[in-house]
Amino acid sequence: MNKPKILAASLTVILTILANSNLSFFTSVNQPSKDSTCYQYESNEQFQSFLKSRHHHQNGGNLCVQKDTGGTGRVNATFLMLCRNAEVYQVLETLQTIQDRFNNKFHYDYTFLNDEPFTDEFIYLVGSYIPFSKVNFGLIPQDHWSYPHHINVTACAEIRANFANVPYGDSESYRHMCRFYSGFFYKHPFVRSYEYYWRIEPGIKLHCDIQQDLFQYMHTNNKKYAFAISLFEYIDTIPSLWSHVFQYLSKYNVDPGLLPVLANSDGHYNLCHFWSNFEIARVDTFDNPEYERFFQYLDSTGGFYYERWGDAPVHTIGTMLFLKKEEIHWFANLGYHHPPYTQCPQDLDEFVENRCVCDSEDDVTWNENLSCTPHFLSYLGV
Ligand SMILES: *[C@@H]1O[C@H](CO)[C@@H](O)[C@H](O)[C@H]1NC(C)=O
Ligand SMILES: *[C@@H]1O[C@H](CO)[C@@H](O)[C@H](O)[C@H]1NC(C)=O
Ligand SMILES: *[C@@H]1O[C@H](CO)[C@@H](O)[C@H](O)[C@H]1NC(C)=O
Ligand SMILES: *[C@@H]1O[C@H](CO)[C@@H](O)[C@H](O)[C@H]1NC(C)=O
Repeated sequence: MNKPKILAASLTVILTILANSNLSFFTSVNQPSKDSTCYQYESNEQFQSFLKSRHHHQNGGNLCVQKDTGGTGRVNATFLMLCRNAEVYQVLETLQTIQDRFNNKFHYDYTFLNDEPFTDEFIYLVGSYIPFSKVNFGLIPQDHWSYPHHINVTACAEIRANFANVPYGDSESYRHMCRFYSGFFYKHPFVRSYEYYWRIEPGIKLHCDIQQDLFQYMHTNNKKYAFAISLFEYIDTIPSLWSHVFQYLSKYNVDPGLLPVLANSDGHYNLCHFWSNFEIARVDTFDNPEYERFFQYLDSTGGFYYERWGDAPVHTIGTMLFLKKEEIHWFANLGYHHPPYTQCPQDLDEFVENRCVCDSEDDVTWNENLSCTPHFLSYLGV
């Protein structure tokens, strides 16, 4: 036996003793970024004791649990969910559907983000449910989930009080959420440690088995943004968004790219947007200087708070400005459901083969009063 091997062996023994004797000692597996260390455990008891003993604000509230990876060759990708501690059971329901319909075959990582620290209970239940790969529990920095300095908070409260007729119009946290997804999620160190993300939410459903590795599809076909459902935005939430987009274009002399896809014949926004509770995209579709400048411009206008701009129209306009047609993709027939809309396969063979459980007549895709997908398909050819 040579010396390095003996050294490595005894180091392992020492580390094991340390890990067992003091559970606040992290078993460092691999570090997705300098801000986090992954914890690996052998038994439920060990996981529970670790959570009890950990220092809550260690690593800025970011914690990572590493399971068996269960294979290699995966794309560098994660599921991404923004959620609250109180939503833990809806989160578990989403995990059930994602694992059973897709991820038990592929073992992709998960990233959970919260504007408050995740509780031990949340981490234990969610961390225990996911059988493979890495599970990231991240804390959103406060300045990514609060008013920027130029916002008049008193004025915002007055506006909200008169906005209750619009969906989430009176909600402050919904506005922080929309702004976060418009310009901050891609700055979180956990998200930045991946090339692709698949956005999911508490309470969504996959109504069919997904046989294909969708991340691999994105990678192989050079796709940068994919959607499942598209809708029309409530005009009352974005009265001035469209004109601000044009001010941005002229201020920075930006080529409008595919933006005409979003314009009516009279030049107004046709309100089409990818329904962003489902997105599979490259992180750098948004994490790049051009999109960042676009977001900063929009943020400077205050529209996320003085109106109620959603991240869906902002992402959609961003993709039209900065992506090429061929980089945008529509995933048909996933059987995706986010209340109140469903995408459900129309083809009977496909329905049966993928063990779907939705009603094909509920499919929103071809309902031209609700869905913009026919328009996107004819103009983008996606
Ligand atoms: C475990 O380690 C932490 C940090 O290294 C230390 O503060 C704590 O006192 C240790 N606990 C025990 C029981 O050794
Ligand atoms: C903020 O808004 C309130 C309510 O509209 C207004 O009374 C106040 O003057 C504003 N403050 C500033 C600094 O503009
Ligand atoms: C995954 O992608 C991120 C972002 O490009 C990169 O920083 C990271 O090193 C990659 N991880 C692996 C395992 O290749
Ligand atoms: C769309 O709306 C029009 C006018 O309200 C109605 O006549 C039509 O039946 C609707 N189509 C669908 C598919 O619901």
